[in-house]
Amino acid sequence: MEKVTIPKLLQKKRAGQKITMLTAYDFLTAQILDEVEIDILLVGDSLGMLLLGYENTLPVSMEEMLHHTGAVCRGRRRALVVGDMPFASFHVSDEETIRNAARFIKTGAEAVKLEFCGCAIRRVKSLVEAGISVMGHVGLTPQLVHQMGGFRVQGRSEEQAQKLIEDAKAMEEAGVFSLVLEGIPPQVAETITKTVSIPTIGIGAGAVCDGQVLVICDLLGLTGKKPPKFVKQYAGIREEIRKATQRFKQEVETGQFPGPEHTYH
Ligand code: KIV
Repeated sequence: MEKVTIPKLLQKKRAGQKITMLTAYDFLTAQILDEVEIDILLVGDSLGMLLLGYENTLPVSMEEMLHHTGAVCRGRRRALVVGDMPFASFHVSDEETIRNAARFIKTGAEAVKLEFCGCAIRRVKSLVEAGISVMGHVGLTPQLVHQMGGFRVQGRSEEQAQKLIEDAKAMEEAGVFSLVLEGIPPQVAETITKTVSIPTIGIGAGAVCDGQVLVICDLLGLTGKKPPKFVKQYAGIREEIRKATQRFKQEVETGQFPGPEHTYH
């Protein structure tokens, strides 16, 4: 088993090999994703909406992120783990950003992810100076949900597209080792992917990116909601859970479970 490292991800881009990344929030899922050799496990702040029931990602705390990061790190052996810096954990000062990012690293993550915003470039530089590896995130950045007026595709106008390309280049210059491109037109993702020398990982950004990421609950069909256009559901786990738990209820109520084979003699 060869561990995934940041230099190996850069080599993958150069060799034209696609990078796989999925979100993971718990020990067992991390174990399974590691067994199938997913390259990067992202402990995304999307856990706030999917596991904790918040309306958006803004309420997620550092404690919540670290709790799940620890579980994911204990479940993986091979994959690179990236911890998502939650809203307000990197907005106040360089010092506080380094302190918070270091908590992810001490918990076992190899890197942190930071969404683009007005202070992102300054913060990436200070993290990299402190020896902490950073993945950037540009385009539809959910922590700016109120400024964007909802979860909307970004970079549709010529002017917005140009700004996104500039942001991506600035993130590379600041030192990120990779960039998530979320919710942008594929032509813009293609320009960024060809312009920067670091791997781009797309979600709703077309097929040209150097890798793809999906939120694990979307991929598994767990959410019970109509998925956005960019999601491919590879399973219907919500329905499987419903069927299994309905059977359990019925068998307990009718006295079928536990049978003799489930009873100590
Ligand atoms: O929080 C998250 O799950 C993410 C991915 C959508 C990239 O940032």
